[in-house]
Amino acid sequence: MSMHKDTLCIGIFGLGTVGSGILSILSQNEEVIFQRLGKRVYVKTICIRDLSKRRLFNLEGVRVTDDPSVILNDPEIDIVVEVMGGENPAFSYIKAALENKKYVVTANKEVISKHKQLFFECAKQNGVDVYFEASVGGGIPIIRSLKVGYAANKIQSFFGILNGTTNYILTKMDEEKQAFESVLAEAQALGFAELDPTMDVSGMDVAYKLTILAAAAFKINVGIDDIFYEGIENIHLEDILYARQFGYVIKLLAIGKRLSDQKVCLKVHPTMVPIGHPLAAVRNEFNALFVNGNALGESMLYGKGAGSLPTASAVVADIIDIGFDTALQNSRRNLEIEFLQENLVPVDQLSSKFYLRLSVADMVGVLEKVTAVFGRHKVSVANLIQRENDRGLAELVIVTHEVAESNMNHALGELRNLFEVQSIQAVIRVGLDE
Ligand SMILES: NC(=O)c1ccc[n+]([C@@H]2O[C@H](COP(=O)([O-])OP(=O)(O)OC[C@H]3O[C@@H](n4cnc5c(N)ncnc54)[C@H](OP(=O)(O)O)[C@@H]3O)[C@@H](O)[C@H]2O)c1
Repeated sequence: MSMHKDTLCIGIFGLGTVGSGILSILSQNEEVIFQRLGKRVYVKTICIRDLSKRRLFNLEGVRVTDDPSVILNDPEIDIVVEVMGGENPAFSYIKAALENKKYVVTANKEVISKHKQLFFECAKQNGVDVYFEASVGGGIPIIRSLKVGYAANKIQSFFGILNGTTNYILTKMDEEKQAFESVLAEAQALGFAELDPTMDVSGMDVAYKLTILAAAAFKINVGIDDIFYEGIENIHLEDILYARQFGYVIKLLAIGKRLSDQKVCLKVHPTMVPIGHPLAAVRNEFNALFVNGNALGESMLYGKGAGSLPTASAVVADIIDIGFDTALQNSRRNLEIEFLQENLVPVDQLSSKFYLRLSVADMVGVLEKVTAVFGRHKVSVANLIQRENDRGLAELVIVTHEVAESNMNHALGELRNLFEVQSIQAVIRVGLDE
């Protein structure tokens, strides 16, 4: 990288939602960026897949290609921006860029989650770095906050709402009393949800993001296969309504906690959040991260987790940050090459409060049988509602005190085998237990 230049020369892979947002910001905020950085950001080349597609942008002065080597082998390009998505070929382009001593900025959670260690090592060997602010929480500066803003703290725990689609769906179910399927269809029509929403509703998208936060907050290297994640497919309107009665809002949370020295828990699941908690107020497509630091105490970052300009805001901030970084030469604060050997505690060794909704036979003695099962497995009931419905069945809605997950699993197994229990409609973890 040439230190004396008064321009930062960049090459971009991808000109979709995020790529076009980057061009907008660089042109709209050109002067602000120049004043802050003291250099101009010059987009030299953009690599896309389909050259025949019509582009809405004025791409005058930019070389547009479908040949990746035009960017990867250009000695003038200082920073490679990857906003294509997917694991491949993003992985090989990022690796090649680092090997060619180019800084990399990416918005791609999947490729960072899977290959972070290799990227960080490769960056270090080549005296450059890889930045990925936009991969978690879109425009909210979460990674930079964890690495820089909270740098003086030991992070004790964090709780994130990191998927706009699922938060939008849960908010609409809650506020408009609509079923999951109808809200999902509406969200798809409005463009808030993908036509194939599996990645979002299954919790997998949040799981990728959690592994990236785990690296930034706890310096541990895990993949999504190492962590427990559960989505919102089985959240019914009834549960959202009962949650309100008990004083909670259901949110899909990414949770990271230090349990004791060198033990960490990482998990993603729908959680009943107390109505008064700041995370309960995060509505619609907004994202947030609630952090507990041992010096700062509680704080929360909030904002738009997706969209063209919000996501590009984080990408351009990374570009500017690299501009500062290269001016200082040796300050590569983003490098995370030495991961710690923390022990990830499996979810069945944790404990939690639970909300359960059971459909049971409407007959005498059912409650006694259910509570007997609970008694055998040390599950104690904090709150209970019993309600008849019109099909000769009754609904038992229970919130428990804290109980070991393994005990709860055994109790659920026994309940499933009880003749009087027709089905277990919902099992949702309750509270944040900070
Ligand atoms: N959209 C968001 O709100 C958001 C938020 C946070 C993070 N991100 C992440 O940002 C990345 C980009 O998302 P996006 O929404 O901008 O995607 P997108 O709208 O689908 O755009 C993808 C772009 O990449 C290009 N591309 C795909 N494969 C390519 C290949 N093999 N070689 C060269 N170019 C290729 C496409 O080219 P053509 O135009 O020729 O098809 C297109 O311009 C993803 O990793 C995503 O997860 C997105």
